Amino acid sequence: MSFGPRRLFIHVAALGLLARGFAAWAQSACTPSPQCRRDCGPTHPATEGPFYVANAPELVDINPARAQGTTMRIEGTVYSQDTVMPIRAARVEIWHADALGAYHPQGHGDIASYRRSEINLRGVGHTDALGRFAFASIVPGHYGDRRRHIHWKISAPGHRTVTTQSYWLDERGSARDQQDGTDRRPEACRWVAFKERDGAAVGVFDVVLETLS
Ligand SMILES: [Fe+2]
Repeated sequence: MSFGPRRLFIHVAALGLLARGFAAWAQSACTPSPQCRRDCGPTHPATEGPFYVANAPELVDINPARAQGTTMRIEGTVYSQDTVMPIRAARVEIWHADALGAYHPQGHGDIASYRRSEINLRGVGHTDALGRFAFASIVPGHYGDRRRHIHWKISAPGHRTVTTQSYWLDERGSARDQQDGTDRRPEACRWVAFKERDGAAVGVFDVVLETLS
């Protein structure tokens, strides 16, 4: 069988396509693991958005108003820059829209500016001795041209505070994802693979904080 330049070119091109396909698959399949954390490095920042309200309540069940929606549990671990050492007592703040895409409150400023009944789907937790956190809530809906997302602000002594957003891995590449002009190229570790467990959507979002020199 001949193995001329044309056939060689086809083989090389096919290998190139395979390699690119594998890289894309590996990127999208980066579920929380030591290797993924090493590959991603410190969690990248993303915009705080227009609906950040400072001094949110200390809560891990962040749906005290019992807004309707699919139950969601989002948990994870906060690591230091080496991607191995968990950070205990890190402050983890979370806020997101309700199932219809509205924030509570649909505003910004300080929490003191709002009535208690206006505040929902926002909360602050702290990591345990193993760096772990967990929040109970409902799956947020879409709004505007944004892909479905959760907002985060995470801080710990000796580390740079990161404000960021996480996304739904199974919505990656969707028409809505492609039209989202905010946070154009999130790294693989911010795409969370939610799984269904007892009727709830359960996801793991690990965070790596840069150390301050
Ligand atoms: Fe948002």
